[in-house]
Amino acid sequence: MSMLRALMIGDVVGDPGLEALETRLPGLIQEKAADFVVVNGENAAGGFGITETAFRRILAAGADVVSSGNHVWEKRDFWPVLETESRALRPANYPPGTPGRGWVRLEKTAAGGRPVSWLVVNIQGRELMSPIDCPFRCFDNILAEQGPPADLFHSLYNSEGNLPAGLRGPGDIILVDFHAESTREKEALAWYLDGRVSLVTGTHTHVQTADERILPLGTGYITDLGMTGVTRSVIGMDPKICLDRARSQVLYRMECAEGTGGVQGVLAEIDGETGKTLTLERIFRA
Ligand SMILES: [Fe+2]
Repeated sequence: MSMLRALMIGDVVGDPGLEALETRLPGLIQEKAADFVVVNGENAAGGFGITETAFRRILAAGADVVSSGNHVWEKRDFWPVLETESRALRPANYPPGTPGRGWVRLEKTAAGGRPVSWLVVNIQGRELMSPIDCPFRCFDNILAEQGPPADLFHSLYNSEGNLPAGLRGPGDIILVDFHAESTREKEALAWYLDGRVSLVTGTHTHVQTADERILPLGTGYITDLGMTGVTRSVIGMDPKICLDRARSQVLYRMECAEGTGGVQGVLAEIDGETGKTLTLERIFRA
C-alpha cells in the first residue's frame, strides 16, 4: 500500500497568521512528511480577503494550493490572480461568469517517486451565507466532468463500497475545502461525499472543532480546521472591537488581533490505491 499524507490548514488571518504560517508550516511539512498541502488564505490581507503578495507568501511557506471563501472578493486586485493562477481557488459554486475557478488538478511526485494526481475542490455553503449555487449539485457537476454523471448517492457504490471506474481515476486523490457557516450543512456535505473523496475539511468559522473522524466509506472529515492566527482573539480579530460591536451593534471596522499566532489544521494519511483516509490527526501548533 502506498501511503499519502495531506495537510489542510485553516484560514490564515492577517499578518500574524502569515508570520505563524511562515514560521511553523515548513517544519510541520517536514515532521509529518506531508505530500500535499492546502491552505485557506481568504483572510490573509488584514483579515479581509487576500492579495497577490499574501498568496505568494503562502505558496512560499509550502502550500500547493490556496483555497478561499466568501471574503476572497474583498481585494479586487486579486480577481485577475484568480484568473491566471490555477493554485488560487475561489468557491466553485459561484454562478457562471464569476472570476476564477473552484477546483484544480495538480500532478505531484510523492515520496518514493510516485506521481500522484491531486484534485482540490473549494466549495461554499449557503446556510447563513449568500444563497449561491447548490454545493451538492456543484460537486456532482465537477465529478461529472471527470466521468459519468452521478446523481444518486447510494447508486455510486458497488457492494464493496468502492466507486465505479471512471468517477475517480487511479491515483486521483480528492481534497475538499468546504467553506461554510452551518455545522449541519458541513456534516451533510461530508456524508454526501463519503467514499467519493478522500477528505472534506470545513473552514470559515475559525474555531477548530474536535470532531475529526473517518466516515463509513473512507472519507476523512472535520467540521472546522480552525485558523492560522492569533488565538487570544475573537476569530483572529481584536477582542475589544468585537466586544464593542457585539454590545452596541455598531459595525466598527474589525482589525486583526496583535500577538503571536498559531497554526491549526489536520493531517490525513490516505491509502494511495483506494483514496480512503486511514488516519486523521488534528493539528494545533501555538
Ligand atoms: Fe475565514
